[in-house]
Amino acid sequence: LAKVEVDLASIPEGKNVIIKWRGKPVFIRHRTAHEIEEARAVDVKSLRDPQSDEDRVQRAEWLVMLGVCTHLGCVPIGESGDFGGWFCPCHGSHYDISGRIRKGPAPLNLEIPEYEFSSDETLTVG
Ligand code: FES
Repeated sequence: LAKVEVDLASIPEGKNVIIKWRGKPVFIRHRTAHEIEEARAVDVKSLRDPQSDEDRVQRAEWLVMLGVCTHLGCVPIGESGDFGGWFCPCHGSHYDISGRIRKGPAPLNLEIPEYEFSSDETLTVG
C-alpha cells in the first residue's frame, strides 16, 4: 500500500504503536506534555545529528518516524534506552523521545516518513 491511515483516537497518550508501511515499521508515539518538554529542552548543538524537535514533528504530541535504526537497519525497542526513547539492541544505539540519536554507533536520527493529518483524528502515512 502506498498510503496507510491510522486512527489516532485508538492511541492513548503515553503509548506507542507500530504500523507497517511499504514493508517497513513506522513508529507512532502519542507523547505526553512532559515528553514534549524533555524533547525541546535538549541543546540542539550538542547532538550528533542536530535537529530541533520542532523540525521533526508536525504536531508536538504525535511523533511519527521509521522504525529502522540508522546504523544497520534493526528495529529499535520503544520505551527503553538511556534517553527515554528507543534502544536498538543490535549494537546499542540510544534514541531520545524525539527519535534523535544520542549514544551508540548510529550516525543519524530516526528518519521521518512523509505523512499528514488528513483529519483531526486520522494520520495518513505516505
Ligand atoms: Fe541499530 Fe546497529 S543496527 S545499533
